[in-house]
Formats: sequence, C-alpha cells, structure tokens
Amino acid sequence: MSIIGSLIATLHCVFLLTVCQADAQSAKPVQQIIKEAIFQNYDKSIRPSKSVNAPIKVLLNPALYSFVSVSIAEQTLTFKQWFRMRWKDEFLTWNPAAYNGVTSIMVSRADVWLPDIMLLEATEIIQLDDEQYAVALQYDGSIATSVDQLVTVHCQFDVVDFPYDTQNCTLRYSSWMYDASYINPYPNNRTDLDAYCENDEWTLRSFTSRIKQMQADGMLFVEVAYDLKFTRKPPYYITSFFWPAFIITSMAIVGVFTPYSESGSRVEKVTFGLTALLTMAVILMIITSEMPKSSNGIPLLGIYVIIEIVVIAVATLFATLNLHLHKAWMSGTPVPSCLLAITCQYRSKTPKNPNAVELISAAQKAIDNAGLNININNMKSEELHEQWMRVTDRLDIMLLIIFFILNCIVTAVILLTGQAKLEK
Ligand SMILES: *[C@@H]1O[C@H](CO)[C@@H](O)[C@H](O)[C@H]1NC(C)=O
Ligand SMILES: *[C@@H]1O[C@H](CO)[C@@H](O)[C@H](O)[C@H]1NC(C)=O
Repeated sequence: MSIIGSLIATLHCVFLLTVCQADAQSAKPVQQIIKEAIFQNYDKSIRPSKSVNAPIKVLLNPALYSFVSVSIAEQTLTFKQWFRMRWKDEFLTWNPAAYNGVTSIMVSRADVWLPDIMLLEATEIIQLDDEQYAVALQYDGSIATSVDQLVTVHCQFDVVDFPYDTQNCTLRYSSWMYDASYINPYPNNRTDLDAYCENDEWTLRSFTSRIKQMQADGMLFVEVAYDLKFTRKPPYYITSFFWPAFIITSMAIVGVFTPYSESGSRVEKVTFGLTALLTMAVILMIITSEMPKSSNGIPLLGIYVIIEIVVIAVATLFATLNLHLHKAWMSGTPVPSCLLAITCQYRSKTPKNPNAVELISAAQKAIDNAGLNININNMKSEELHEQWMRVTDRLDIMLLIIFFILNCIVTAVILLTGQAKLEK
C-alpha cells in the first residue's frame, strides 16, 4: 500500500513538475518563442536561400519624400527618401498553426540577413534611422524593411536651357557583390510619390523605373534604374536677372541716344553706357557662378545677358561716333550727302550756283570795304554747326528707335524660346 502510495505521490510530483514547466513556457510571449525557434541556427551572413542556385528576388520600392538641395554648380542632387525592400528569407519561417496562429513578428534589422543593394550614383548616404529598428517578418519568411535616408547623388545636369531647364537624373540600384544568379532586384509596379513634398524651386515631372542588365568584371548584374525628371520653376530667375537686364539695357539705350544735348552731356552719355555695361557684367558673373565650370554650352539666360551687353556696347560705340560727328562742324567739314540722305535732310541751303562762291567773296570784300566787322564765313560756319546738330539729333532719334526695337525683339525671342523649352 505504501509502495503504491509513494508511486502515486511520485507520479503526482512528476505531473506537477511537467505542468509547472509548461506554465513557465506559456508565460513567455509567443513572439519570443517563435524568435528563439527560428534564430536558433541562423547565420545572418549566409544568403537565405535553401537552393544554392536560386536567386533571391528583392522588390525595391523607394518612396521619394522631398528634394533637399539641387546644386547645379557641383552637379549633385540631395533628396530624402524611405528606401523600402522586400524579399523572402527561407530560413526564417514557421508554421502559424503551431504558434497560436501568429503570422508575423517584428525583429531587429541588425539580426537578419540584408541584401547588399547599393545606389551606384550615391556620393553620400546618411541613414536617419537606427540599425536596431524593427523589420516585419512574415511566417513564410517575407521581410519588409524601410530605411529613412538622406541621399546625395552625382547627376549630369544639362544647363543649356537655364532657367527653363529640365533635368533627368538616373538612380541605379544594384547588388554590390552578388551577381544576377544570387540576387535579382526588381521594381514595384508603380513608383511611390504618395508622400512627396513639392519643392519651391523644382517641379517633379516623372519618377519611373526600368530594369537594366550590367556586365561588370565578367559577371552579370541586374540593375533597377529610376529616372527622376524635374523642371526648374523659372520666375525667380526671370524677375531677378531677366527683367533687370532688359530694363538696364532699355535705360542705357534711351540715355545714350537722347537728342538735344550739348557736347558736355554727350560725353556723359558715353559714361552712362559704360556704367550700364559694368552692371550687366556683374549680372552675367552672378549667373555664371551658379553654373558648372565645365558646362558644354552657355545657358539661355547667359546668352541673353551677353546679347544685351553687345547691344549696349554697340549703342555706346554709336554714341561715341555721334559725339565725334557733333564736333565735325568745328573743322568746317560739310555734312556728307549720305548722312543727309539717311536723316532725310537735303542740302537746300547750300548754294547750287558755282558762281555763288565768287559772289560771297565779292560780298565779303564789299562789307570789309564798308568797314563793317562782319564775317560771312563765320555765318556760314554757324549754319554748318546747326546743320550738323540737326543731323546728329536726327541720327540719335533714329538709333534710339532702332536699338529699342532690337532690344524688344531679342527679349521676346529669348522668352518665347524658353517657354517652348518649358512645354517640351
Ligand atoms: C532619362 O535618361 C535615360 C538615360 O539617360 C533615358 O533612358 C530616359 O528615358 C530618360 N528619361 C526621361 C523621362 O526622359
Ligand atoms: C504588378 O504587376 C504584375 C503583372 O502585371 C502583377 O502580377 C502583380 O500583382 C503586380 N503587383 C502589384 C504589387 O500590384
């Protein structure tokens, strides 16, 4: 009886012990139990594919958040994105039925194998989140990661149409060490712009993906290329460079060709033209300082400013020439007939009769004989002075109109060209 009793007691004890152990086990969260089970023999440096030859397909789905800066001069683009990847880790699977139907757990990103997907154009990537942050792991081994990044990439900008330029930056993602037979990146069906914040200076035109193959070092790599197309918003450059250049040139033209001025103010006019030239040179310098030093063409805005500089320079040259003509009467030079024709004035006051010269000298003799101090030649030079004045004033007005129209035409052509490039 005592033997049976002690046996029952022992069995009871064993039973209690088992229950106790089971109790202790069920006290652990099921996630922990799953984690302990799947990570038991896990080595995160091993590519998680049970078949050596089967490539792991990695879905790339970067979500563009915003442009941080675009440096045309340094040929770099900095943006913030959430870089998301999804793949299947065949070593991290479990049967949900055996674990209370739990189908997904969160594990630390630092604990699992990560595909070595690189952005080939990147010059700097700042990771804004932590390596210890969690990733979602499904029972079938699907892992989804999302990394918050600040990315700077090198990009070949084309500034020929500046400030109406459209840029196309290609971002290529590829595995760094595993070739196409080990890792196969592929893009999501649609690129994600849901969280995109509009930039003040640039308008995002498109963000598209395509798959490329690249041969490197005798190995074939699969690349996912994203084309980022964006257009500059030109108003800032139009208001701070384009219109000032137009206004300065117009002022210079008006100032340089204002008629009815004395010789002294004519000299001032040339000075005025030179000052306008200097101002334009400063504008041009500011524009070129924003451009890459080795650009393969002059930007549209630069061309405009250079044309305006040439217009002012030629106008100043004409003004100088006119200043010279203005003083021509002093040497008694008669107004050439071509200038009279151009300015629509005719030699009506010049004597047509060849005998007139003799008549004038005879008249002068008579005046001298009468003892009067009048010089007919002086009167003649006075008349010549007036004729020269009229001609140079007319020339001024004509040049003013011609240059003003020229300036307007150049401005309109450049603006229309820019608009056409913008709409392309
Ligand atoms: C951007 O450039 C790439 C190659 O340089 C080209 O394949 C792609 O079509 C371009 N994208 C756009 C939107 O023009
Ligand atoms: C992407 O497209 C393929 C084929 O068109 C389709 O089978 C797949 O379900 C799509 N994936 C998503 C996430 O929409």
